[in-house]
Amino acid sequence: MATIELGRAKRLKGEITPPPDKSISHRAVILSSISGGRSVIRNFLVAGDTMSTLNAMAALGVGIKQGKEIIIEGAGLHGLKEPLSPIDCGNSGTTMRLLSGILSGNPFFSVLTGDESLSLRPMARVITPLRQMGSNIISRGGDRYPPIAIKGGGLKAVRYKMPVASAQVKSAILLAGLYAEGSTEVIEPVKSRDHTERMLPFYGADVRVDGLNTRVTGGVELKGGRCDVPADFSSAAFFIVAGLIVEGSEILIKKVGLNPTRTGLLDALKRMGASIKIEKNPREVSGEPVGDLYCKASQGLHGIKITGETIPSLIDEFPILCIAAACADGVTTIKGAEELRVKESDRIKAMADGLRKMGVEVKELSDGLSIKGGPLKGASIDSRGDHRIAMAFSIAGLCASGKTIIKGAEAVDISFPGFYEMLKGLRR
Ligand code: S3P
Repeated sequence: MATIELGRAKRLKGEITPPPDKSISHRAVILSSISGGRSVIRNFLVAGDTMSTLNAMAALGVGIKQGKEIIIEGAGLHGLKEPLSPIDCGNSGTTMRLLSGILSGNPFFSVLTGDESLSLRPMARVITPLRQMGSNIISRGGDRYPPIAIKGGGLKAVRYKMPVASAQVKSAILLAGLYAEGSTEVIEPVKSRDHTERMLPFYGADVRVDGLNTRVTGGVELKGGRCDVPADFSSAAFFIVAGLIVEGSEILIKKVGLNPTRTGLLDALKRMGASIKIEKNPREVSGEPVGDLYCKASQGLHGIKITGETIPSLIDEFPILCIAAACADGVTTIKGAEELRVKESDRIKAMADGLRKMGVEVKELSDGLSIKGGPLKGASIDSRGDHRIAMAFSIAGLCASGKTIIKGAEAVDISFPGFYEMLKGLRR
């Protein structure tokens, strides 16, 4: 297990381009694999989670070449092959849930497994709608947890009202909908990230979005092409907050994806009094808005209240938002975030325990946290194998007195290989 020691930073200065977007990289590989013809993916994220998807598609018989770019010889909607053994999704919920949609459309037997953390994550949310569509899909613990076994095929379209806002569930249903007879409709309670529905039309799918309703037509063959992946806002988030809370800092974060379904953290930080500018180059890359962000240390951030309807747009930024809250004046309350209990770790508990160790006053709520800002003191924090917990507390360590020790720091490789090197490069 890797242990990293961090001390207080004098200031952070410089320019960075964060790693490629994880959500878009997963989708680019999956959609290219089920399209006809050759696809070329530029700036694919090579990290633990996205390699799980790449290896899974290779195990399903797709021809993939990994060089500077990823070249995929697509199998077409109906060309995937029955895998020889269970497909290991590693730590990646996105791989497991999106693939459960694809495999439900395929008339062969397959099993999806994962690591210890993924094996405890809820799967009924995809099993219920996929079964309604006609998939033979079962899983451990009375259809609640991985592994999942599927024998798909013969799907029919459904109209499905989702009980939880989840882009993974929405995407699983839309992907299964590609194989179903008729038009499949998903209705979300709150808008979640919309990469799947933005990307599908680039591959020739017939998708219609009307507010919280998304529809896809089944039986339309897809065609491969080029896909450029922007830098990941969720990885940038650690440096956005670092730039704000380490005194005297100025960081330019380049080519970062600014899809509004992902940037709730920017709105929250601005409400807290942060100085962040979309500096220049607002543009589109593969249908996704992209720009450069300039973050300058902000004196006097103040506490705010965050409620349920904004949570999906900052779902993965909860850990680093908690660190910003710990450095702000007054109390920040985050509610309606019960989904954070079933991420790679129970992130509500992980943040409450870690912040308390660093001397912060925290109230743990069933659906969130209440954090009273104050001085941070260095502590020893266990990542719990969760990449975002490791990175959030690493940033906290830059503002803490004494030493902060991150145990299990190798977890950062799930989404952000090179995180510690990038951080080191900014220290002045
Ligand atoms: C993701 C959706 C979100 C997010 C995860 C990636 C995706 O999960 O937390 O990191 O790529 O669709 P949920 O769908 O469970 O909210």
